[in-house]
Amino acid sequence: MKQRIEQLRDRINLLNYKYYVEAQSEVSDYEYDALLRELQELEAQHPEFFDPNSPTQRVGSDLGSGFVSVEHRYPMLSLGNTYSLDELREFVNRVEREEGHTEFVCELKFDGTAISIIYENGKLTRAVTRGDGTRGDDVTANIRTIRTVPLVLRGDNIPPYVEMRGEVIMPHASFQRLNAEREEAGENPFANPRNAAAGTIKLQSSAEVARRGLDCYLYSMVGEGLPHENHWDNLQEARGWGLKISDRMVRCRSWEEIEEFITRTDSERGSLPYDTDGAVVKVNDYATQRRLGSTAKAPRWAVAYKFKAEQALSRLLSVDFQVGRTGAVTPVANLEPVQLAGTVVKRASLHNADQIALLDVRVGDMVYVEKGGEIIPKITGVELSERTDDCVPFEYIARCPECGTPLVRIEGEAKHYCPNSEGCKPQIVGRIIHFISRKAMNIEGIGDETAELLYTSGLVSNIADLYRILPQQIATLPRMGTKSAENIMRQLTESRGVPFSRVLFALGIRFVGETTAKYLANHFRTMDALMAASVEELAEADEVGEKIAESIRAYFADERNVAIINRLREVGLQMEEVEKESLSDVLAGKSIVISGSFVRHSRDELKALIELHGGKNLATVSGTTDYLLAGDKIGPAKLQKATKLGVQIISESEFEEMIGGAEITLPKEPFEKPAPKVEEKIPVQGALF
Ligand code: IVH
Repeated sequence: MKQRIEQLRDRINLLNYKYYVEAQSEVSDYEYDALLRELQELEAQHPEFFDPNSPTQRVGSDLGSGFVSVEHRYPMLSLGNTYSLDELREFVNRVEREEGHTEFVCELKFDGTAISIIYENGKLTRAVTRGDGTRGDDVTANIRTIRTVPLVLRGDNIPPYVEMRGEVIMPHASFQRLNAEREEAGENPFANPRNAAAGTIKLQSSAEVARRGLDCYLYSMVGEGLPHENHWDNLQEARGWGLKISDRMVRCRSWEEIEEFITRTDSERGSLPYDTDGAVVKVNDYATQRRLGSTAKAPRWAVAYKFKAEQALSRLLSVDFQVGRTGAVTPVANLEPVQLAGTVVKRASLHNADQIALLDVRVGDMVYVEKGGEIIPKITGVELSERTDDCVPFEYIARCPECGTPLVRIEGEAKHYCPNSEGCKPQIVGRIIHFISRKAMNIEGIGDETAELLYTSGLVSNIADLYRILPQQIATLPRMGTKSAENIMRQLTESRGVPFSRVLFALGIRFVGETTAKYLANHFRTMDALMAASVEELAEADEVGEKIAESIRAYFADERNVAIINRLREVGLQMEEVEKESLSDVLAGKSIVISGSFVRHSRDELKALIELHGGKNLATVSGTTDYLLAGDKIGPAKLQKATKLGVQIISESEFEEMIGGAEITLPKEPFEKPAPKVEEKIPVQGALF
């Protein structure tokens, strides 16, 4: 028994680490909760094996490096949860046994990451993650970028100090856009919107956070001197202050009403624009809440009822290994066809070798398939009771299934890679397909199949070869004629006008997605400057960290890539960012130094704006500096020097005023801002759905 307890502790600790530190969830919530519950039960039966460090003894922690850790004035507790309606009913009965007839509030359990937003005298002063429940990370700059979080509250009855607790979520639309970008850049997509929200809130660049389109629902008010003595009225009041409170919330006075809310929410949740993984049932009245009290982890006056993710059980027939454009290998399960959430599923992702080992999946096993917020179904577990003796563990491949090259595993990455980038067919064809795609060079006359044919027929073996094919060569390919050949030739000619940032994106450098390419083009201006940059210099561009910088360096260090770029240059592709026209000369003759991080613009955007208005952007403060444009976390040395030299220090909004209003954005590309979100209609107080 001791062995099982230890095994469970190890497994849960590993899953916690993956979830809280790496923002990856490898098993379903259901499976995680089942493991935790098994451990709790075994520990209760065997108090002799008590361990204060067991994962049952604490709330998981999301404390990460790079943020200031601050203490919560009021602890942020977790919630007890159940998957069983009987247990939920048991909770309601217990409360009523102890407290008599009680009013409950039922609300959605938002599937994101918890946040506490502090308003002092109506102004947002700080936003802190849950962390370990006692201390969390100060992520104020990131939260300030969420458009639905008011920076200033309006209205009456606002206490001088109030904490609004809620959930930062990533709506499906933002999630899909983000993952598409990540896949294009050869990065691992987020497993689900919850991980994406948790990962995003911990980014160091608030400009990137702003771009990703998070949202935030508030579900409780904490503090002293609150306007009302109950949860419901306070949330309605908060809505009046401009805070985003869900209208999917009801007051219930009987078990039947609670059950009805749950059934309805479960059937309607699929059509919501964000994920919800359950319902939360809370005692409404604060005095009753206080009497019921809390355990160390969770209140005794609230409980979460979790919906089961839609799951299906099917037999694992075989495993294929797919090689992507970047050489990353993905194991894909072939299943006996099974109905799941309205579609027939035959294939599902097995993620990587670690996941296969963690789940101990074997060919022949009955496996659970789930469709979460994500598009591709995944295997989340094995039904061990159905395992037969002929289910044997299988070896993860050691060689590329396409070209036979031994696979490599880069430290810190979960996936295996085929290093034979120049000789492995799916990588070569994948790069050609990427190069001609709409957001890159937009040569759509060549479809995926034609791209493959061009390669197999020996006409094209790299992206530069595309510019030397002849119309008559295309016309002889299957399903191609003179018309399509002419069309392709025209698109190839037109692609010479595609801006430099898109050419850069089209090269398919690992981790250089559409946005990163824009930042790089804007920062370095020319291909030559980019190719000459060191890792340190590359990392100075917005949104380029060490990992991306190293990948860019490695790309240019390969002379085969340099040769291709030279050929692309010879055929006339854009290798320089076209200078933008100036917007005004209000900053003519002014030198401005930028330091710190900013809420509405990235540093490169600010730099571009300075130049567009006739000013000069300099790296260091000196006697000739006119302004220091100071953001959050400004370098202390710069600040000290500026003060000493009497340089005027200006904020982001003062800068915006100088150049003519806060709404100023760059004229067109490269910095498209996401479209403003349509505000949800403020519902009638207490309206049901
Ligand atoms: S109340 C003391 N209400 O669920 C009460 N939590 O598993 C604490 N959550 O950490 C939370 N929707 O991040 C509450 N309507 C809701 C919620 C909610 C999502 C999250 C929250 C919490 C976790 C507990």
